Amino acid sequence: MSALDRVVVVLGGAGTVGSGIVQSLLERGFQVAVISRDGNRLEKLKSFVPALTRDRLHTLVGDVGSEEGAEAAKGALLQSVGKVTDVVSALGFSWWQGGPPPHADAAGAPPGGCRQAMRLALGRRE
Ligand SMILES: NC(=O)c1ccc[n+]([C@@H]2O[C@H](COP(=O)([O-])OP(=O)(O)OC[C@H]3O[C@@H](n4cnc5c(N)ncnc54)[C@H](OP(=O)(O)O)[C@@H]3O)[C@@H](O)[C@H]2O)c1
Repeated sequence: MSALDRVVVVLGGAGTVGSGIVQSLLERGFQVAVISRDGNRLEKLKSFVPALTRDRLHTLVGDVGSEEGAEAAKGALLQSVGKVTDVVSALGFSWWQGGPPPHADAAGAPPGGCRQAMRLALGRRE
């Protein structure tokens, strides 16, 4: 599958780390989708990425920080973009940013926001 055929969701893509990942993926020819709770952050991201790649950047206002929010975002994204082939998580869920402590998912479950990331990825097969 060529890069252009792939739609990479970058969770946290409007953030400091995520926006760099988004830029890099766009420069390599991927389609990229970013969900943020803040439309202003998405506008800022659009102006940050190279103009020639902007038509491959799909943005959506949503909240993947809850199960319900992730489901809603998944539905809206699949409707607008059609598919999700890859998911990258750069969510700011670390404990020093108000997220769970690092040992919270010691039972083997993926930590914090990664759970929603995996839900989005697996959801494409539903
Ligand atoms: N920045 C660094 O130098 C650095 C260095 C090492 C590791 N890291 C790690 O990299 C990750 C990202 O850091 P960052 O500096 O890029 O953080 P950031 O700029 O604050 O961006 C964090 C992103 O996570 C999303 N997010 C945070 N809490 C959320 C919630 N409750 N529900 C939904 N989305 C939420 C935000 O979404 P919205 O757009 O909706 O606000 C934002 O896009 C963190 O895990 C951090 O620990 C960062």
